[in-house]
Amino acid sequence: MIFAPPSAPSPCLLHGLPAHLFHPVKGEETILQFSSGTLTLTRRPKPQPEPLNYPVLEWEDITFEDLIGEGNFGQVIRAMIKKDGLKMNAAIKMLKEYASENDHRDFAGELEVLCKLGHHPNIINLLGACENRGYLYIAIEYAPYGNLLDFLRKSRVLETDPAFAREHGTASTLSSRQLLRFASDAANGMQYLSEKQFIHRDLAARNVLVGENLASKIADFGLSRGEEVYVKKTMGRLPVRWMAIESLNYSVYTTKSDVWSFGVLLWEIVSLGGTPYCGMTCAELYEKLPQGYRMEQPRNCDDEVYELMRQCWRDRPHERPPFAQIALQLGRMLEARKAYVNMSLFENFTYAGIDATAEEA
Ligand code: ADE
Repeated sequence: MIFAPPSAPSPCLLHGLPAHLFHPVKGEETILQFSSGTLTLTRRPKPQPEPLNYPVLEWEDITFEDLIGEGNFGQVIRAMIKKDGLKMNAAIKMLKEYASENDHRDFAGELEVLCKLGHHPNIINLLGACENRGYLYIAIEYAPYGNLLDFLRKSRVLETDPAFAREHGTASTLSSRQLLRFASDAANGMQYLSEKQFIHRDLAARNVLVGENLASKIADFGLSRGEEVYVKKTMGRLPVRWMAIESLNYSVYTTKSDVWSFGVLLWEIVSLGGTPYCGMTCAELYEKLPQGYRMEQPRNCDDEVYELMRQCWRDRPHERPPFAQIALQLGRMLEARKAYVNMSLFENFTYAGIDATAEEA
């Protein structure tokens, strides 16, 4: 079976017992308890991971087109698929040959999350999955405008077309309202995720995709967990610049640490894809965040939007606003039709710095 959701570690406690005393029975778990000279041995049926039904795509119904994304261990390929008799665009995620066991587990976990999440307009939805020659292929909605980070950076018109920028008096091809809509859509997607009790753990503009009608959609559920609190036990590359204080210090992840990351995403949107804490090292972040240091207000950012960021970055997780409140507030700002993100070319306008090497944790 290619899809095996990770099962909980066996609670079998066996300390100092000769092996012949222990005959594990398949499908059963053994619990041994010692206390003041007494030993209690209980056998009970192992909780079986519930099989998960995913929408099956036939290999013959996928026509692979071009490579649209590549990471260390995975690839994303644009494809045409046939689903329920309809032809449609899809993005197919697959692992590379030399992916580790951990990568395979995260990948299967991503399918599990996508299946359990269900449909929402502000998340990247599952179209189906296919098993071929022992490999898993996950088909998700295709987002025609790619990831939000690149999309924001490409809108820096003063760099790409200074004549246009000066003629229209703007620093971005995107309006204040569109930028606010990216934030509001992402907040709606995160509200849905949090109501389903999923923690994303890697919320950042690079993991938000831009779909039809420029709707933003939360993507990359590879690290998501359907748990109230997740404590990361193994080492791995960490998205330090997006991480809450408690995740940096104690590897604890909750919806409230996703709220912190949302604050950083909001900053990325306002700064048109700037690198958070540009010029600071990760070590400096570990030192300065607990001392109260936070990113300053971008010059083009309205006080109310910056205040929202600061609330997301509160020290105490329970003092950060819930996604429902963030989504409501951003929705209200959208209705107000005020320029919350000022894109006009004011005097001495400069873009926030980009440091691609610093973004790699
Ligand atoms: N890159 C990664 N996933 C994608 C998707 N679903 N659509 C477009 N580009 C992508």
